[in-house]
Amino acid sequence: MSSKVLIIGAGGVGNVVAHKCAQVPEVFSEILLASRNQNKCRTIAADVKVATGRDIETAAVDADDVEAVVALIRVFQPKVLINVALPYQDLPLMDACLHAGVHYVDTANYEPPNLARFEYSWQWAYRERFTAAGLTALLGSGFDPGVTNVFCAHAQKHLFDEIELIDIMDANAGDHGHPFATNFNPEINIREITQSGRYWENGEWKTTAPISVRREYDYPAIGVKPSYLLYHEELESLALNIRGLKRIRFFMTFSDQYLQHLRVLENVGMTRIDPVEFQGRAIVPIQFLKALLPDPASLGPRTKGKTCIGCDITGVKDGRRKRVFIYNVCDHQACYREVKSQAISYTTGVPAMIGGALLATGRWLRPGVWNMEQNDPDPFMEMLNKHGLPWQIRELQCEEHARD
Ligand SMILES: NC(=O)c1ccc[n+]([C@@H]2O[C@H](COP(=O)([O-])OP(=O)(O)OC[C@H]3O[C@@H](n4cnc5c(N)ncnc54)[C@H](OP(=O)(O)O)[C@@H]3O)[C@@H](O)[C@H]2O)c1
Repeated sequence: MSSKVLIIGAGGVGNVVAHKCAQVPEVFSEILLASRNQNKCRTIAADVKVATGRDIETAAVDADDVEAVVALIRVFQPKVLINVALPYQDLPLMDACLHAGVHYVDTANYEPPNLARFEYSWQWAYRERFTAAGLTALLGSGFDPGVTNVFCAHAQKHLFDEIELIDIMDANAGDHGHPFATNFNPEINIREITQSGRYWENGEWKTTAPISVRREYDYPAIGVKPSYLLYHEELESLALNIRGLKRIRFFMTFSDQYLQHLRVLENVGMTRIDPVEFQGRAIVPIQFLKALLPDPASLGPRTKGKTCIGCDITGVKDGRRKRVFIYNVCDHQACYREVKSQAISYTTGVPAMIGGALLATGRWLRPGVWNMEQNDPDPFMEMLNKHGLPWQIRELQCEEHARD
């Protein structure tokens, strides 16, 4: 039996989620796309109609207003709410789901607007309430977090008896032709990158200066790229949920040009998240910067090249040490042809749809608040292959991993 889905947030990712949900009428019988600005929803609905022939409903809603979201849910009566607004909206939308009796999916952990701190504590605090209500909240169903967590769960279930080392490697070799732009919401993206790096080793968190640890990594389909250690939210839950783990880190590629722009913006104070006085009013510099930078949604038609994101994992199987890279390669232009979006939004939106579908069909329904790797990876891995993000596995030399 197919179900209704409510998608909140009509940005780059919301566009992909709407298209992908519309492609599976056997799962989602009706779709409502709601966001702060209804016109953005209408534009996406028109594109979805052309691409899939399906009508989707649209609405204006402020996701921070719990009562307004509850009212919308009561009228539309979805089974699942997919939150692809911003991380600031996670808690109000989880509250709305609890009030209205709807399952919840998101792609990024909650962040307070005035504090760039990435941790699950605020959302894990909802466990008892979701359990008591018999509802499921699925956290971080994008690519990273999301697919990367599921790759680790797949490795734990099928490829290793014990996992020792995980490096999550995220390469975007796309070129949009702008001197500086971010591939998803600039405010959220820059807050993440300018934080100190952090990784987990032998039971402890270790901190590094922002963008200070660099390695060269050979990515399938892309080649060797400089990659920098960052803190990324999936490290927190994977460090808890992968048995025997000794070290987990996250690396992302940046071009020298991107880093040079970022350093200048930081040095002049343009990435600050606290309000400053300007001509008699308070402005937040990073929000002003967002208004100046290209809208990530506008990068779709101009971006060429590929992304490669995966998990480089070393461990033991049947008494023998082994190392694998589980990954997906995605082509920016192929994504644009399918859903009018570049690969960063695509690689986030497809898993958000899959997470929603696994709740809608009951396969991942379990009262409580769950990170992705706490579920059976098999149906998710199957759906990745069917819905545009096929994965592959490459065997690597394990001796090199421990030295890196
Ligand atoms: N896990 C992953 O792999 C991954 C990767 C990339 C992004 N993400 C996450 O995906 C989410 C969406 O990213 P994006 O690039 O699509 O961002 P975006 O283009 O900025 O879109 C966000 C949308 O949410 C809407 N919105 C913001 N505040 C709202 C509110 N209070 N009420 C209703 N709607 C509101 C925005 O409306 P306006 O247009 O009016 O501003 C916009 O349409 C973010 O949480 C991001 O962190 C996850």
